[in-house]
Parts: sequence; C-alpha cells; structure tokens
Amino acid sequence: MAESTKLNLKFPKEFLWGASISTHQVEGNNHNQWTTWELETAQVKVAKAPYNYQHLANWDEIKQDALSPSNYVSGKAADHFNRYKQDFDLAASMHLNALRSGVEWSRIEPKEGVFNVAAIEHYKTYFAELKQRGITPVISLWHWTFPDWFAAKGGFAKRRNIKYFTRYVRRITKELGEHFGYVITINEPTVYAAMSYHEQRWPPEGHSKITMLLVMRNLASAHRKSYRIIKKLQPKAQVGIVHNCAYYYPGDDSWISSVVARLGHKFSNEVFINRVKRQQDFFALNYYFANQILGTRVHNPDDNQLNDMGWDMQPDKLRPLLVRLHKKYKIPFMITESGVADSHDKYRKWWIAQEVKAMDGAMKDGVPLLGYIHWSLLDNFEWAEGFWPKFGLIAVDYKTQQRTIRPSAKWYSRLIRTLS
Ligand code: BGC
Repeated sequence: MAESTKLNLKFPKEFLWGASISTHQVEGNNHNQWTTWELETAQVKVAKAPYNYQHLANWDEIKQDALSPSNYVSGKAADHFNRYKQDFDLAASMHLNALRSGVEWSRIEPKEGVFNVAAIEHYKTYFAELKQRGITPVISLWHWTFPDWFAAKGGFAKRRNIKYFTRYVRRITKELGEHFGYVITINEPTVYAAMSYHEQRWPPEGHSKITMLLVMRNLASAHRKSYRIIKKLQPKAQVGIVHNCAYYYPGDDSWISSVVARLGHKFSNEVFINRVKRQQDFFALNYYFANQILGTRVHNPDDNQLNDMGWDMQPDKLRPLLVRLHKKYKIPFMITESGVADSHDKYRKWWIAQEVKAMDGAMKDGVPLLGYIHWSLLDNFEWAEGFWPKFGLIAVDYKTQQRTIRPSAKWYSRLIRTLS
C-alpha cells in the first residue's frame, strides 16, 4: 500500500482539488423532514443496531454510539452553520481550491411560499466568504432534505409538487446567481428514490417499486426544469445533476457474468442519466463502489479491504468507469464525491492516491476531468447510520466541536501542492 502513495503526476493548473459536504449532514439545528423522522425513529434504530452492525469488524468500537439514541439525531451536528468561516480557513490551509456545499431548502422556505430573508443573506455571505479564500464553490441546491410542508404534500412522489421545487430554484438563482459557477440541482436521485421509497431505509420509509420509479421520473423532470431556469437567469453557470455510479465488471469469463455486468451498468449508471443528458453541462459523478459479478450476483474479491461501514473498496476502478461513461456521454466529468468511512485514517490516503492515479489514467485515455471533490471535508451525520461513520478529512469532536486535520488530509494537501 505504501509505495502506491508516491505519486509523480501532472494535473491541469485549473483542476479543482476539493472536498464536499452537505447542509443537513454538518450545519446543525435544521428543521426538515429528516429531523422529524430522526426523532421518531431513534429508539427503533438503537433496537435494530445489533442486527444491522454486529457483523462489522469494528462493532466493539462503534457499539457505544450505535446503541445510543443521540447518535441518530442530527442535532447540532458539526455546527457548520455557525462555524463555517473556521471550516473555510481550514480548507484554505489545506490548499483546497474547491468546496462542494449547498443551501438548505428548509431554512430558505420554512413555510410554504414564505422565503426567509435572513437565511438567504446567510448563504450570500457564506459563498462570498468561500470565494474570498480563493475557493470555488460547487453549489448543491438539494441534498435529500426538504421542509416539512413539502413532505406533507407528498414530496417528490407527486408530480404536481415539482413546481414548489422549481419555485425555490428560481428564487435561489435570483438571489445567489452571482456565485453560480458550478451548480448541482439534485444529489443522487436514484439512491434517494430507492432508499426512501423502496428499501424503507430513509424517510418516508416507502416500500413500493412503482413509487420509487415515479420519484425518479419526477426528479428527472425537476432537474430538467431547474436546468432551464438556471440557464435562463445565469447562462454561464455550469449545471449538472449528481449521479452515484458503481463500476460493474465480470469476475470470470462466463457469458452470464458478462451479460449481468453489462445490465448492471446499464440500469444503475445509464438509464436515469439518459433522461437528463441534454440538460447536463458536466457529469457530476459520485463514486464509492465497484461490483464484481460472478454469475448473476455481486461477489467482490474475498481479499479486498472493507471500510468501517463494511463497504468493499476498489478505488482503482474509477478509471475504467470514467472511460466507459465518457465513451457514451462525451462531456466533461467532475468527481463530486468519493471517500471512505475510516475512523483510524488507515485507508484514506491510499484511497485518494489510487483515485488520483485512476484520474490521471482516465485523462490519458481522453476523459476531460474538471476536478476531484473528496467526501468529506468534515466528519458528519451519515443519514440512517448517524454519527459513527467518519468520512472527514477533518475529524470533529462533537462534544467540543474541535476540528483536527487527519494525517491523510495533510498528505492530500501536500499532494495538491505538488500536482497543481
Ligand atoms: C451521499 C452522502 C453520503 C455519502 C457516504 C453519498 O451517497 O451523497 O450524503 O454521506 O454517500 O455514504
């Protein structure tokens, strides 16, 4: 592992080297459909924790958190809403020149049709402060959380609700448009639709394939409409939708493995994007997984390393994934998320090094790449799992709100200096 982190590569001067966060996961004190659900389900999650996590190698380390209701309530989170200047200073000290962050719809429009001027002003200052530090914002307009009133109307499961989202997008574009360089309308629509409407894992814990497909259709439509609104008001903005893609590959030379791998790629990575491909200035890619297919199943190599959440790690597969997607879509790519839950900071440096090599390889193969935005800048609230998974380049002590740059992040920051 050690020698693979010695890199001697050249990246374009304007390449974005960054980190990503999302509002709900770090801001603290939010009031949205997710916070309501957190309070309702914390006890159930505690009861299910042994079943969900006991198989993990680190169960002994995480069980105190996993068995505590407060783990599942975002509460103050990393208090980024108040401490963002400090966090931006840290990002700047790490030589990051990009940060993917966003605006929280539930703060901006807490009541239907009533826009909160103070919240809008907050985000104006927020992005201005970021730019003052020489950091390019990549602005997410929606990362899975919305106001309770929108949830009460049925959220994205109802086609007629799309107009509320586009009204919010229009308002935000008018207010924050001057900061719009790169804009993400929606984060991982297919993951959200599956987890919230089919797998019963996230609010509103739906269990219907049909609703999941309707939500995907509505999110695609919401993106297309938002794209047009943003481009009309801010023609220079580069607009994309974040898609989470896994690399599917056959693990043997049987015809069945190769057909299933091809189908996996098509359904997971292409079907949704085909609906929005004309409204996509760049492909915003979130990468966490590769799936080796044996026969009809995913069976990753037994000797692969697992992260703290038990996820199989194959960062090198980013290269063939980028090449395959670029062959089809032929637009520039930005890695808008990729990272590891790694509380001991054992794998993060290796993961980044492998991905940097993979990106270098992909660029040599002809893929235009705009940047690498690592997930995450800070430890954060990991949705249904709560606080125990640690994705941060910067560790957060939730008792004191103390930030500590992890060794892998110090290495990343040295790497950025040598590569830019
Ligand atoms: C999401 C993040 C999440 C990360 C790690 C991505 O799918 O966009 O919000 O924290 O994965 O699970």
